[in-house]
Amino acid sequence: MGLSGRMQQVIVGAMALVAVLLVWGGFEPVIYAQNAKSQAVIEKAFPSSGKCKRCHERVFEEWETSPLSKSIHSAAFRASLDAYLNSSAGKDKALCFRCHAPHIREFPDQAQLFVDQAKSGDPSLDGVACAQCHLIKQVDRAKHPPEPKYELGSKTLYGPYKDFVQNLAHQSMELGLFQKSDLCLNCHQSVPSALNLGKANDLLGNWDQSKAVKSGKECQSCHMPEQVGESANGEKKRKTANHTFPGRIGKLRQEAAKLDVQTKVEGEKTTVTVTVQSLVPHNLPTTHPAWASVALDLDIKGKNLKTVFTDKRVYGRVYQDAKGQKTSFDFEAVKVLEDTVLKPEEIRVETFTFPTPKDTKTFDVEVILNYAPITGSASFLQRVEAESSKGSQDPVFQPIDIVKRTENIPVNK
Ligand code: HEC
Ligand code: HEC
Ligand code: HEC
Ligand code: HEC
Ligand code: HEC
Repeated sequence: MGLSGRMQQVIVGAMALVAVLLVWGGFEPVIYAQNAKSQAVIEKAFPSSGKCKRCHERVFEEWETSPLSKSIHSAAFRASLDAYLNSSAGKDKALCFRCHAPHIREFPDQAQLFVDQAKSGDPSLDGVACAQCHLIKQVDRAKHPPEPKYELGSKTLYGPYKDFVQNLAHQSMELGLFQKSDLCLNCHQSVPSALNLGKANDLLGNWDQSKAVKSGKECQSCHMPEQVGESANGEKKRKTANHTFPGRIGKLRQEAAKLDVQTKVEGEKTTVTVTVQSLVPHNLPTTHPAWASVALDLDIKGKNLKTVFTDKRVYGRVYQDAKGQKTSFDFEAVKVLEDTVLKPEEIRVETFTFPTPKDTKTFDVEVILNYAPITGSASFLQRVEAESSKGSQDPVFQPIDIVKRTENIPVNK
């Protein structure tokens, strides 16, 4: 028994309609519901930071202003995640999240969910939040990079206090790890995608040989400075740890380096000698992402404070990819072409020579050490701009001053 042509057309048409409905009307909500369920499972193991806010308002507000709370949110992260996933290196979808949203380690099957959330630009999943640190029971430093071990399902949160006040939401336990650099090293020591670079992938350098560390300082001493306040709402004041994680943001920058400037005018020629003394007990900058660099900018202002000469030195690493091209992505780097990072507590002397400014009795020498704006291929930078709600005004396109010195120099006739 055959169907008439007209009947066949109706059936095919109806099937197409059903298919469309499945995709737009039915299929999507199914995926959406599945994702929501997966996210609920993930957040059962790693409660979202919003849950902790209820009782730890002070800590939450500090953390919220820190870069850690935006670890899967920035335009630069989205653009470079995309570049990674589209590269030949990008097979392991979970890789970037191992540090940027480390709970992925416990949910390897959910990598696509993390990718989709990051790509949305407005993820509701946490990146590096409260539970992502306070559920870490151990860090295995024998691994490269070191690996965290999470303790899930016991409702115990680890922290620095032995004499904690009991509460109804969770159990507490003191762990020495929380006052040790080890906790930070699993994310800050080296990046696994660049492991073929071996020792050149080391982000911190010989930090453990620095004077600061030998005198007993841990990462927390400087980046989670001690203060006094409520640890939980309404509890008595005690020693707490600042969770704004000062770095590029915050006052810690003023302690990064000392600049000494000597200017010698010799007739037509002037020489400026800048001594940069890094006070940082690890590399400055730490070179992930690979474009991270610090610049020393010299600006000479002559008559009417008009700039008559500029020059700069750049501290960072220049990487090469497998095709022999320079790359600003560490995941495709095979070689370090140049390494000018300031080593722990290093003193670097820079000399600049230029023609003595004319028609003026004095001139200004301005020296600024700053975190340099993002660099990379034109297409990558355009992508970052397009991904950012602020466009070309995104903070990554602006330098961040670290320390500055200005001197007024007489021109002796
Ligand atoms: C689970 C991984 C992880 C752990 C553990 C971790 N961090 Fe980070 N940290 C990150 C990521 C990712 C960023 C970058 C966030 C961003 O800007 O997107 C960051 C940023 C920072 C910054 C800001 C850097 C800047 O350029 O301003 C500081 C400071 C910092 N971390 C200190 C620490 C300290 C101290 C510890 C240990 C107590 C620690 N971190 C533990 C992943 C981690
Ligand atoms: C071993 C841990 C680790 C891995 C793996 C890792 N990152 Fe990061 N990432 C960090 C840390 C720590 C910082 C903060 C560095 C700093 O400020 O000095 C950071 C900072 C960044 C930043 C600058 C801050 C921001 O959010 O805009 C970008 C972009 C970035 N990472 C992209 C990536 C991409 C893409 C991948 C995967 C190819 C990746 N990272 C893999 C630890 C990691
Ligand atoms: C990058 C890891 C990291 C993240 C993210 C983090 N903490 Fe902490 N937290 C620590 C460390 C390390 C200490 C102990 C620091 C010390 O004593 O020097 C600490 C201390 C604490 C303390 C006791 C001291 C105090 O300041 O009150 C509480 C409570 C706490 N954290 C809650 C939270 C909450 C809530 C969040 C999220 C809003 C959070 N933490 C995010 C690492 C982290
Ligand atoms: C019902 C209120 C409540 C909620 C919700 C809550 N906490 Fe607490 N938490 C407390 C109290 C109270 C203390 C004890 C503070 C003290 O001793 O000064 C505490 C202590 C801590 C400590 C210190 C433990 C130690 O031994 O050092 C950490 C870390 C911590 N909480 C993390 C979290 C995190 C992460 C969340 C969210 C997943 C959270 N808390 C949710 C009330 C709460
Ligand atoms: C003696 C204080 C001190 C100690 C200890 C210390 N730092 Fe820093 N760190 C600084 C200063 C100062 C800067 C530079 C100014 C700034 O960016 O805040 C800095 C910058 C940073 C930055 C951001 C700059 C960049 O180049 O990306 C990160 C990330 C960082 N430190 C991580 C760590 C980690 C991880 C440890 C532990 C292994 C650590 N620091 C130990 C003082 C310290």
